[in-house]
Order: sequence, then C-alpha cells, then structure tokens
Amino acid sequence: MSHQASPPAPLPEGEGRKSGLLLPPLALYVHIPWCVRKCPYCDFNSHAAGAELPEEAYVDALLADLAADLPAAHGRELVSIFFGGGTPSLFSARAFERLLDGIGRHLSFARDIEITLEANPGTFEQEKFADYRRLGINRLSIGVQSFQNAQLQALGRIHDAGEAIRAAGMARRAGFDNFNLDLMHGLPGQDLAGALADLRQAIALEPTHLSWYQLTLEPNTLFWSQPPEIPEDDLLWDIQEAGQTLLAAEGFVQYETSAYARNGRRARHNLNYWTFGDFLGIGAGAHAKLSDPHGRIRRTWKTRQPRDYLAPERRFQAGERLLEADELPFEFMMNALRLTEGVPAGLFGERTGLPLAGIAAPCAAARAAGLLENDPQRLRPTARGQLFLNDLLQYFLP
Ligand SMILES: C[S@@+](CC[C@H](N)C(=O)[O-])C[C@H]1O[C@@H](n2cnc3c(N)ncnc32)[C@H](O)[C@@H]1O
Ligand code: SF4
Repeated sequence: MSHQASPPAPLPEGEGRKSGLLLPPLALYVHIPWCVRKCPYCDFNSHAAGAELPEEAYVDALLADLAADLPAAHGRELVSIFFGGGTPSLFSARAFERLLDGIGRHLSFARDIEITLEANPGTFEQEKFADYRRLGINRLSIGVQSFQNAQLQALGRIHDAGEAIRAAGMARRAGFDNFNLDLMHGLPGQDLAGALADLRQAIALEPTHLSWYQLTLEPNTLFWSQPPEIPEDDLLWDIQEAGQTLLAAEGFVQYETSAYARNGRRARHNLNYWTFGDFLGIGAGAHAKLSDPHGRIRRTWKTRQPRDYLAPERRFQAGERLLEADELPFEFMMNALRLTEGVPAGLFGERTGLPLAGIAAPCAAARAAGLLENDPQRLRPTARGQLFLNDLLQYFLP
C-alpha cells in the first residue's frame, strides 16, 4: 500500500524563501535503544537490556510511531533505512521482518534502497545474519572499536578481537558484500603503532567502508566522570596523519571527517544527512528533519526513555521546532562542509529555498580566510577548513 499524504494547511511564506521547493530525498532512521551493557564512553541513547527485551511491543510501537509521521513523507519513496542504536543486532530476524513489512506497507522503497543495520560483534550468529540479509538488509555497520584485547576491555566491550574478526567473516558468509567497520583511535594508553595496527587489521578484513572516530570524552558518561589517560594532542595528530596516509594507500577515500569508502561505496544514509536531505526518525529519542511543500523545514524528536516510549499513551513525539530562515545557512553548512568534496553550490538553494546570494558575504569572508575553496560552483572546505571546521562554520551563524 502506498501512502497518500494529507494536504498541509496553507502558510505564509517565510521572508526571502521560495515555496514549491522540490522536496529532498527521504530516508528513515529507526532507533533500537538497548545494548548488552553500556560502554563507559558512549553517550548514545542506549540502555543495558534487562533479562528480556520487549521486542514485540517495541516493534508495535515503532510502527505506530511511523504511522503518525506518515503525512510528513509527502508521498516520497525511501532512499535509505538505517537501523541504529544501541545494538539493533540484539533483535531477532523476525522483529526486522515485521518492521520491514510494516514500513513497506506505508512507504515505497527506492529500487536501489540502502538498508543498514548496526551490529555488535558480541551478538553475531551466522543464521540470524543470513536471515537479516534475506530480508533485504544489504549493509552492516559493525562496531569493532579496536582489535587489541586490552583496549577492548578498557572500553568495556562485550567482545574480544577474535570475535570481531569472526564477525566480519560471518557477515561476508551471510551475503553482506557491503559492510562498515567502526574503529576508534586516541584510546587510553594507545600509541601510534597500536592505532595503525588496528587500522591494518581492519583493512585486512576487506570492509567497503571504515568509520574511524577519535575517542571523545562526552558528558554524562563514565569516562567523563572518571577520565582515562588518553594520548596527548601531538600524538593524536601523528595518529590522524599516519592513519589517513595508510588508508589512502589502501584505496580508502576519505569523504567526510571520519568516513572512508572503498570503490565508491559511501554510506548513502549518512550522505543524505550531510547533503541536508530529509529523514524520518522513529524509536526512542530519534530525531527527524523534514521539509514541506511550503518551504518550511522542521526538526522533531521523540520520547527518549524506552520505558516512556513504550507507555500505553503512545506519545511518541517529544518536541518539534520550525527552523527560521536565518538559521538555515548554518544548519546547511554544518552538514555540507563535513564532506571533503563539499557540495554543488546550487544545492544550497534547492535544500533551503534561500538565494545563494544571501550567503555571498560569509562565503567571501571564509574564502579570504583560506577556509573555503575559491570555486563559485562548489561549497567546499579547503584542507585548512576541514581541520578548523568550527572556525569555518562561525561565518554562517545567524
Ligand atoms: C551507536 S554505536 C554503533 C554500534 C554498536 N552499538 C557497537 O558499539 O558495537 C556507533 C559508533 O560510534 C562510535 N562512538 C561511540 N561513542 C564514541 C565516543 N565517545 N567517541 C568516539 N566515537 C564514539 C563507536 O565507534 C560506535 O561503534
Ligand atoms: S558504543 Fe554501542 S554497544 Fe556500546 S553502549 Fe554505545 S551503542 Fe551500546
């Protein structure tokens, strides 16, 4: 069944904005908020699972949540679905079957849709992953973090290096030819050799994509209140530089701050965020960004605590905010300028409805500062702009 959008109420146009925008591509983010155990560095909306996961009830809630959001799709097909967490791979194949069926009853899927599932190596079972693949899930993102057992222990991970290596093999045998590995660097006590050894081991597993994050100490985590000793800035710098050189030599093209793809297999779901596409978000704490045919863009967010999300009242949405026209340049740039190649200049108008001339002054200033490339056809950070992205973004603040 394809969904027919109900017509939105007429609205006065925001100042300086066009109506009748071509609506951006639409993706769907689905949040699964449970993990076997909470990692001490993680500030995602993830919670240690109790003895039993409320899998059925949660799938029911997700589908009811989606049904309530459908008008915002405006009849668009989905270009990507991302099951993120938490640890979605804690859920059975049956749960994803119900979910994908339910989603497919409401929304149509693009022919080449990317469907990604985040998986923790401590939750791999060959049969379950083969079933995931049969259901149409065609990309995995495996959270490895490191291949050194001592590091994995310090990070509170539920798996060791051997399990991470076996997980990649199982993914491949289950039919996943497109998978990402998440690795972190700048880990407690890590030296340059250790960081590069992790990268080499990851590369040896032949993923199509690597997400290589620098560990950050986030408020509201155990690492924030009891900080481990992490490498000094000089060493972090050396790790970053040597890692980038190694990845480039191995054919991994860096296309975003932390994202590297081989053979052009960039993450379409993330690219949709970075090119200021639209996305629905269902599940505890999920965020969404949605444009409407009147040129309005709004952000919404869902009830964060799984317990509240599952409550019988079914109050899924916790808040929403219409973006003001003067916020849009920053909102757009905050995403687009993470991309090493930037975006075509014309995308600014397509996605925001604002004239490019409106950001001529901040662009000129950022170019004069050597942070933005001098190419009128593209909005693209220079190497320096990539390094000092926050400085570059300051130019676009309201
Ligand atoms: C939601 S987790 C996804 C996978 C799964 N939950 C797991 O950990 O196996 C997303 C990724 O974000 C990264 N991450 C989480 N917290 C981080 C932090 N404080 N600093 C840097 N990267 C972090 C990790 O690499 C993690 O795999
Ligand atoms: S890093 Fe992954 S496994 Fe660890 S708590 Fe966060 S979401 Fe869960």
